[in-house]
Amino acid sequence: MTFDSLHFKAPKMVVEPPGPKAKRIIKMQAETEGNAIYYPKVLPFVPQTGFGATIKDVDGNTYIDFSAGVSVLNFGHSNPHVLKSAMDQMRRLTHTLDFPTVARTDLVKRLEGIAPGSLRNNCKVVFGGPSGSDAIEASFKLAKFATKRHSVIAFSGAYHGQTTGALAATAEKKYREHYSPLGPEVHFAPYPNLYRNPFDSDNPRELGRLCAGYLEDMIENPDSGVMPPAAVIIEPIQGEGGINVPPEGFVKEVEKIAKRNGIVFIADEIQSGFGRTGKWFASEHSGASPDIITMAKSLGGVGLPIAGIMYKKELDVWTPAAHVGTFRGNVVAMAGGAAAIDFAKKFRLLDHVNRVGGRALKFLVGLKSESKYIGDVRGKGLFIGVEFVKDRDTKEPWKQICDSIQLACFKRGVIIWRGGGYGNVIRLLPPLTITEDLLTEGLGIFAEEVKNAEKRMGP
Ligand SMILES: Cc1ncc(COP(=O)(O)O)c(C=O)c1O
Repeated sequence: MTFDSLHFKAPKMVVEPPGPKAKRIIKMQAETEGNAIYYPKVLPFVPQTGFGATIKDVDGNTYIDFSAGVSVLNFGHSNPHVLKSAMDQMRRLTHTLDFPTVARTDLVKRLEGIAPGSLRNNCKVVFGGPSGSDAIEASFKLAKFATKRHSVIAFSGAYHGQTTGALAATAEKKYREHYSPLGPEVHFAPYPNLYRNPFDSDNPRELGRLCAGYLEDMIENPDSGVMPPAAVIIEPIQGEGGINVPPEGFVKEVEKIAKRNGIVFIADEIQSGFGRTGKWFASEHSGASPDIITMAKSLGGVGLPIAGIMYKKELDVWTPAAHVGTFRGNVVAMAGGAAAIDFAKKFRLLDHVNRVGGRALKFLVGLKSESKYIGDVRGKGLFIGVEFVKDRDTKEPWKQICDSIQLACFKRGVIIWRGGGYGNVIRLLPPLTITEDLLTEGLGIFAEEVKNAEKRMGP
C-alpha cells in the first residue's frame, strides 16, 4: 500500500496566506478568545479540511502537513478506514462512563497486542480524562498508590503536560513560571541529550553512563537529599524538548535502576507512541518493559480525544473508583483507535514509516552538510528534529531563523512546527501515511527555505 489515494494534491497555493477569509476569522478569534491562544500567533492558518498528510485552508490553499496536530494524526486526517468505524459507532452510542462495550474491549485487546516488552498480552488498561496530562496524572496516582511514596523523578527537557502534577514534571521554565509551587515533589535528572548536556559529552556511551550514574546517585546515595520516589518518568524519545534520542540502552538502564529500588518506571509515550518512531512504542528501541505506559494523542485514531495508561498486571492495586473521570468512556474514540491499529497492521504502516523516515533523515543529514547553521539532525522513524544554531562551535541557539523558515514554508504550503527549550528545533512529524512523493516535495521546499533564510539572515 502506498497510501497514494489518502491525500489531496499538495501543495497548491491560490492566494498568499493569510487570505481574506483567514484574516477575518483570525481577527474574530483574537477578539473573542482569550490571550492564551498561541498557534495562530505563530502561523496565520485557518484550516478547513484535512485529508491524509494534507490540509486545505478556508481560502482554498492546500498544504502538506509536517506537524500532524503534534502527533495526534499519525494515521492521517480523516482516514476513511478509521472514520468509518468511528462514524458507525457515533450513530449508535457515544458515551458510556466505564460500562463495558464492544468498542472498549476491542480497543483494549488491540492495545494489549501492541504493548511493548513484557506488557504485551499481559497488562491492564485504564482510561481516564481525555488529555495526555490526564494520563500523566493517572500514572502518578497509580505509582503513589502502589508504593505509598509521593515524589517523582523526571528529566531535563521533559514535557508531560499542563495540569498541576504533569506540569510539575515538565522541565521548561516558561511553562512553570507563574504557577509555582506546583505541588508534588519532583526532582529532575539530566536527560542524555547528545547535542546539549551539562557533561559536554558527544560520546553516546559515555553520556548514557554519566546520566545513568547521576540518576543512580540521586536514588541510591543516602546523602543525595532525594527521598525514595514513587516513580521515574521518561519520554523514551523527547518530543517538545526537541526530538532528543537518548543513547542506545539508556532507557533500559533507567528501568533497571528503578526496578532494583522498588520505583515505578513510567514511559510517557504520548507523543512518541503509535508508530511515530517506526515501532508501536519508542520504548521498544531500547528493549525496555515500562511498568506504566501513558497514551493519548493518536490513541483515538482520527484525532478523537481519549487517553489512558497501560500497566503491568502486578501493579493493579487500585480499588474500585480509585481513579475515575466523566470522560473515560468515549466509545467513538475507542472505535477509531481500534480501527487505526487494524489499518496500520493491514497496510504495514510501520514498515512504511521506517522506509520513508530513514530517507528523510538521510536527506536532512545531507542538508546539514551544506548548511552553516544546522547544528544537529536527529530522530527515528517520522519523528525528526533539525536544530539551528548561530555558530556550530558555540552552539548558540538561533530561534529567529526557525521562525523565519517556518513562516516561509507556510507561505509555500508546508506546515511545520518547532520545539526545543530554546525554540530552535524544527520538528518534522507528518502523518505516518504520508507518501514518499509528498515527503520529498515538502522536504525540498524546507531545504530551499533553509538556504534562503541563511542568505537572508546570515552575516
Ligand atoms: C510527551 C508528552 N506528554 C504529555 C503531553 C500532554 O498532553 P496533552 O497536551 O494532551 O495534555 C504531551 C503533549 O504534547 C506530550 O508531548
